[in-house]
Amino acid sequence: MSFVSFLKIFLLFYRVYYLSLEFYMGRTLQNTMVNLALENACDEATYQLGLDMEELQDIEEDAGLGNGGLGRLAACFLDSMASLGLAAYGYGIRYEFGIFNQKISDGWQVEEADDWLRYGNPWEKARPEYMRPVHFYGRVEHTAEGVKWVDTQVVLALPYDTPVPGYRNNIVNTMRLWSAKAPCDFNLKDFNVGGYIQAVLDRNLAENISRVLYPNDNFFEGKELRLKQEYFVVAATLQDIIRRFKASKFGSTEFVRLDLSTLPDKVAIQLNDTHPALAIPELMRILVDIEKLSWEKAWDIVVRTCAYTNHTVLPEALERWPVDLFQNLLPRHLEIIYEINRRHLERITKLYPGDVDRMRRMSLIEEGDVKKINMAHLCIVGSHAVNGVARIHSEIIKNTVFKDFYDLDPEKFQNKTNGITPRRWLVMCNPGLAEVIAERIGEDYIRDLDQLKKLLDFVDDDVFIQDVAKVKQENKMKFAAYLEEHYKVKINPRSMFDVQVKRIHEYKRQLLNCLHIITLYNRIRKEPSKSWTPRTIMIGGKAAPGYHTAKMIIKLITSIGDIVNNDPVVGERLKVIFLENYRVTLAEKVIPAADLSEQISTAGTEASGTGNMKFMLNGALTIGTMDGANVEMAEEAGEENLFIFGMRVDDVEAMDKKGYDAVSYYNRIPELKQAMDQISGGFFSPAQPDLFKDLINMLMHHDRFKVFADYEDYIKCQEKVSALYKNPKEWTKMVIHNIAGCGKFSSDRTISQYAREIWGMEPTLEKIAAPDDPR
Ligand SMILES: *Cc1c(COP(=O)(O)O)cnc(C)c1O
Ligand SMILES: *[C@@H]1O[C@H](CO)[C@@H](O)[C@H](O)[C@H]1NC(C)=O
Ligand SMILES: *[C@@H]1O[C@H](CO)[C@@H](O)[C@H](O)[C@H]1NC(C)=O
Ligand SMILES: *[C@@H]1O[C@H](CO)[C@@H](O)[C@H](O)[C@H]1NC(C)=O
Ligand SMILES: *[C@@H]1O[C@H](CO)[C@@H](O)[C@H](O)[C@H]1NC(C)=O
Repeated sequence: MSFVSFLKIFLLFYRVYYLSLEFYMGRTLQNTMVNLALENACDEATYQLGLDMEELQDIEEDAGLGNGGLGRLAACFLDSMASLGLAAYGYGIRYEFGIFNQKISDGWQVEEADDWLRYGNPWEKARPEYMRPVHFYGRVEHTAEGVKWVDTQVVLALPYDTPVPGYRNNIVNTMRLWSAKAPCDFNLKDFNVGGYIQAVLDRNLAENISRVLYPNDNFFEGKELRLKQEYFVVAATLQDIIRRFKASKFGSTEFVRLDLSTLPDKVAIQLNDTHPALAIPELMRILVDIEKLSWEKAWDIVVRTCAYTNHTVLPEALERWPVDLFQNLLPRHLEIIYEINRRHLERITKLYPGDVDRMRRMSLIEEGDVKKINMAHLCIVGSHAVNGVARIHSEIIKNTVFKDFYDLDPEKFQNKTNGITPRRWLVMCNPGLAEVIAERIGEDYIRDLDQLKKLLDFVDDDVFIQDVAKVKQENKMKFAAYLEEHYKVKINPRSMFDVQVKRIHEYKRQLLNCLHIITLYNRIRKEPSKSWTPRTIMIGGKAAPGYHTAKMIIKLITSIGDIVNNDPVVGERLKVIFLENYRVTLAEKVIPAADLSEQISTAGTEASGTGNMKFMLNGALTIGTMDGANVEMAEEAGEENLFIFGMRVDDVEAMDKKGYDAVSYYNRIPELKQAMDQISGGFFSPAQPDLFKDLINMLMHHDRFKVFADYEDYIKCQEKVSALYKNPKEWTKMVIHNIAGCGKFSSDRTISQYAREIWGMEPTLEKIAAPDDPR
């Protein structure tokens, strides 16, 4: 998970500022009704007006301002912060175009622009009175009065506010998204050069900043526009925070000076991923250049104020900005980063004299053809705490990727396991299950998910088992009807719904799933009369538009589907569906209907995952590797209640040492060989037999994610899944063990930990009395 980031600032008045380049909110209407307890009243009112609530809900566009897990997490955090009574603000960019809409045409992904604001957005309110200027380009002047950044180009940041209601506590927080506006005089100083018309047209240059979300998940693309976006949101938000601070009753000049030096006691900036890393040099610039503090004092404040969360181990996600780009766009920030690095390396030289290699490894500046700034190193050096997003991920960070930094400052390193909000991901999307649970243990679990443990008392209760199974069956029927209506595909609601939905990525190993499908297909064809457990395998997810391999994976899935679904020998026993345009709204529909959740990344590659938690909470069983939060899910539910297979992190590391040889697996395992030969021989692409040669070549010769190494174990594990599915009662009992073990994965728990362990504030479930509330 990568392309999100946030920053939290907790001020004197218990305010948390959460800054992110992504907020993957989805729809708002039903969530608002659930949190405000208005669902019944609205149903009734719309009924009387002759309207259908579900139809109304379906008209709302998704707010798709995120790529995947990371952006969705930010949205879950907003819900939890409001529900826990924290005065929190979400800050981000109001992209005019969110994540693209995915169309499948002839089996290929085609992207369409997400014009989500076309009909307006009823949830937002523009606040032009709080517009702030953000500077770019220009040059630096070193004067007797200090450093000045001059001749800059100004872009205005116009805020739009959206309410974020807490769960039935009468608290409403604000999400503030910035939109870029050109100032009226933009480019007009050069009037005579381009002329008036051209100057007005060029306003787009400035307003491009908030035009579109970069559609990469876990991948760094070093584009100038992206760097502008990152600085835009950091600079606008820090100004807003300081404005609010100065407007407070401590706003006299004397006090402000005083307060700034005690900033870390009142303010915490959480850098979620490196995207808001510019907060470090920007805060230095404000403190040194504007507030005139000494470097040492300012640096001490910055480090004690900032904390950094790393979200992925994938090296391709690491932000490494070319120095030239900075020099041009943010010249003063580059100077500041150089000075931070000079002092940082000085410290290392003292501790490890002569260890030149260590200096090179730990420098914020990477030498090479193109000099680059390593933003993760900047974040570690500029923060007092560094954490991963699942226990296993935190260990990896300490022991491998940031080992040098861990050796330097071991006390900085921590862990905080991710979570999801039970409001959207249970109460709202799966009301049937929420109701069945509430009938047994009451409704308090919605705010205190640990109470799900009480369900263990009912694990042998036949009526409860039946109720849980019945809700699942109803959800499956509903989803099957939805697929038939919208995509004209007919599926068998009695078959096992085997679901893998997430961004398409090599490390998430949709290809391993494909190999299982082909193997199952070949087995059924070989012995058609055996009693197979019927499966509907659904795979969904968007590929980044520039990610060729991911797009080929989609084409492979749809091609396999074309063959399998039309083979009369196989019939109802196996169906393969590609779920088009996976997004929050579709997740809300498919997850409650899933029997089996596929979480099959190579151990050590998925930092946490949050999709895995949504499935668990909605009564699907997990087939997965010991990766990310799967490890903790197995711990909470009991490892015997998940289908765990494959290499552990240690095995992967051992294999890396000795070398991974895909070809040897291919030669040794006949069913694997058969599947690969079918793909490469054009069995699934008769019109173009060599269509998948790049995929084949990758799997056989340079597969970083070792698909074949886990193939055998995965297939065996899937056999166990099929066998258990034949016994609905045992299956459902296992489901209940899983639901009962979900408590830890509430984002309320994650946020409470951040609040207590990092920001020093106490979350509360207290309800604020409403004006007409008798209490
Ligand atoms: C939860 C969620 C994700 C994250 O899924 P992972 O399986 O953790 O990668 C991605 N996209 C959407 C729409 C989600 O709701
Ligand atoms: C930051 O966001 C990620 C998801 O992108 C989440 O896993 C992590 O816990 C968050 N960090 C903090 C400090 O809340
Ligand atoms: C921004 O807008 C201008 C004018 O419409 C356009 O020419 C330019 O290509 C856009 N993109 C970027 C990255 O500046
Ligand atoms: C987190 O740290 C690892 C190790 O340096 C790095 O590979 C990864 O890209 C980092 N994530 C981000 C988004 O910077
Ligand atoms: C993770 O956090 C727990 C408690 O929150 C702690 O006991 C454990 O040592 C931490 N692990 C790492 C790797 O930091």
